[in-house]
Amino acid sequence: MILVTGSTGNVGRNIVRELLAAGEQVRALTRNPAGSGLPAEVEVVEGDFTRPETLAAALDGVRRAFLFPLFGELESFLGHARRSGLERLVLLSSSAATFATPGWIGEAHLRNEAEVSASGIDATFVRPSLFMANDLAWADQISAVGVVRGPYAKARMAPVDERDVAAVAAAALTSAGLLGHVSFTGPQALNQVERVRTIAEAHGVTVGFEEIPRSEAHAHLAEHMPPPAADFLLDQLKEAAEGKGEPVSTAEPVIGRPAHTYASWVQHRIADFRR
Ligand SMILES: NC(=O)c1ccc[n+]([C@@H]2O[C@H](COP(=O)([O-])OP(=O)(O)OC[C@H]3O[C@@H](n4cnc5c(N)ncnc54)[C@H](OP(=O)(O)O)[C@@H]3O)[C@@H](O)[C@H]2O)c1
Repeated sequence: MILVTGSTGNVGRNIVRELLAAGEQVRALTRNPAGSGLPAEVEVVEGDFTRPETLAAALDGVRRAFLFPLFGELESFLGHARRSGLERLVLLSSSAATFATPGWIGEAHLRNEAEVSASGIDATFVRPSLFMANDLAWADQISAVGVVRGPYAKARMAPVDERDVAAVAAAALTSAGLLGHVSFTGPQALNQVERVRTIAEAHGVTVGFEEIPRSEAHAHLAEHMPPPAADFLLDQLKEAAEGKGEPVSTAEPVIGRPAHTYASWVQHRIADFRR
């Protein structure tokens, strides 16, 4: 039995799909089983990292688990995992953990990784670059006004498809090897104007990109995250606009197929852009 936490998220949902396709028995943790929308073959259990009393039953009889990186909330899960004899953990981390200056987000992931290492359980740390799924935040602007407003239009980055992140995690959950760190990006470095154009072409519409000042973008981001996390994301964009983004290095050697392109991801999530 493999436990998938974060099972209703962009990555977790695809891990569940990969594991079922590989013939594994899957238990999925969510705070809201009734609304999970997960396949019928999955044993869906209620659990919440912030309510430790919900975790022991979820880990009962489980050999391997995918761990969603809820910052500052992994201790109880890891304690239960150790006591229940869990053999392997696959932690979602971030390529920010590899940066010379990891910033607020990279440091939070490094703390997660250190906690998992300290548990003594064999672990794989999956370190993807930024997600293509972040661009779903543009959906409302695309349908409402036909213009995406954001900072650093020229920021050229190689975002990764959540299906590829999930495929790496599933490989680590089902193979004997793959311990340690796995860092990867998506297959193409594209700037934000090029990404918006790809989405627009898929919808058969014209969409512009209007660059906004960093201060305006910071104010918007800080509504959803701590200000130092917003600073980190904007610094990443600034560096990428200056041509200092991460080099392209895909997960192909691990997943045994080419990484999904941005255009393929847009087609895959087209309904979410229209919703
Ligand atoms: N975005 C990026 O560019 C990027 C890049 C690298 C790494 N990452 C990492 O990837 C993560 C996002 O992954 P994602 O897109 O798959 O997530 P997501 O779509 O935002 O889904 C969040 C998942 O976390 C679960 N969850 C939230 N709070 C929980 C709690 N208290 N207890 C148990 N489960 C809880 C939710 O489950 P329920 O709501 O069903 O309970 C849901 O399945 C980020 O947090 C980041 O650390 C992101």
